[in-house]
Amino acid sequence: MELQPPRGTADLLPPASDAMLGLYEAAHRSARLFGFRYVETPTFEHTELFARTSGETSDVVTKEMYTFEDKGGRSLTLRPEQTASIVRAYLENAHDLPNPFKAYHVSQQFRHGRPQAGRLREFRQFGVETIGVAAPGADVEVIALGDRFLRGRGLDDLELQVNSIGDAECRPAYREKLIAYLEPHAAELDEDCRTRLRTNPLRVFDCKVDGKTPLVLGAPMISDNLCQACAEHFAAVRNGLDADGVAFEHDPRLVRGLDYYTRTTFEFASGALSQAQSALGGGGRYDGLAEVLGGPATPGVGFALGLDRILLAMPATGARTPGGAGVACFVVALGAEATTVGTRLLKDLREAGIPAASAFEDRPLKAQLRMADRAGAAYVAIVGEREVEAGTAQLRRLASGEREGEQEQEEVPLDDVVNWFSRTDWAAER
Ligand code: HAM
Repeated sequence: MELQPPRGTADLLPPASDAMLGLYEAAHRSARLFGFRYVETPTFEHTELFARTSGETSDVVTKEMYTFEDKGGRSLTLRPEQTASIVRAYLENAHDLPNPFKAYHVSQQFRHGRPQAGRLREFRQFGVETIGVAAPGADVEVIALGDRFLRGRGLDDLELQVNSIGDAECRPAYREKLIAYLEPHAAELDEDCRTRLRTNPLRVFDCKVDGKTPLVLGAPMISDNLCQACAEHFAAVRNGLDADGVAFEHDPRLVRGLDYYTRTTFEFASGALSQAQSALGGGGRYDGLAEVLGGPATPGVGFALGLDRILLAMPATGARTPGGAGVACFVVALGAEATTVGTRLLKDLREAGIPAASAFEDRPLKAQLRMADRAGAAYVAIVGEREVEAGTAQLRRLASGEREGEQEQEEVPLDDVVNWFSRTDWAAER
């Protein structure tokens, strides 16, 4: 039996799972602070949903989908992203949902890429979508939320790039202009990029090998070729970000890997990660997506942040990894009588909302202290024969790195232990 999980997946175990949980909690808090509502959609969808919305030419669709046939012969796909699913769910239930619909998710996605650090086949995202508002204020709000979430994680070497890639009004003409410029130079592009030139010329700006060649640098830029409405929208987004104090740069070459974007696109990158995996998240506007699904024209804008990458970037920038310790109190009972007292104390602590645990059997002090330490406990409450007699417990801090014999210890009456924990900032002790 193979004990390793499949390639590109990983078990999330303590302490990394504590850190991930910290990110989940921060994601829920941040999204709700901005008025977004939590949603869940199915882990798999009809393949057509992603094939239609992500675009026939994007890497996500052409190379990376986890597609399978179910027992009924239907083609299903594990979701590679959430935007398409959330828009689908919105269109199906629009009459019951608020308008605009501000949704957020914290969920796993699946992409069959080549696994490496920061690139997994199953990974986690925190994302938001504002559906039903065309106004630039909605773009500003989601970008400001993403920025606030990332900065709140201590990611100071954060770069935010913003661009506009136009819409159905101005992009076709620009596309022709770009093809006309690139075509005579096709031989200078590698094979992959030559294919892009024909199928999706804007993605030539993403060609890693040639992305910085004079050829691409000299190419006409979409942001210089916007129609008036798109140009005004882009100006309003930039002004809104300035007014909100969100630092950003305009990167005229920023095009994104999914095909549904119109107008605003943006990406957050971290200097702490290698170039290839530096994108912590990104998003943009997708005003044509609902119609691709057969719905009425419905504007939308959102982002997704890669939580696995954010965790990788956090220690590298010296940020404190979030997430907590195990329990506040590990009850150490020594002897039969103490075990009865300890069991009651354990119950009292839990009833008061103070996380607590204990050993399941009477073992020597040292062994129980080791268990407490491994459980990530902030404190132990030791009850031995002497304490049973005195009606007390010895409370000892288990701060990591402390040497034997140096621990602070305090004798507290049993009926005051719960209060003692209520007075102590035990979570900060580990
Ligand atoms: P995306 O750029 O494909 O956008 O993914 C967003 C983020 O997910 C990336 O920047 C990265 O941090 C993380 N990510 C992507 N692939 C992987 C992977 N294989 N392993 C680890 N992390 C990864 C979207 O998914 C769009 N739905 C964003 C959006 C929402 N646009 C509008 N609304």
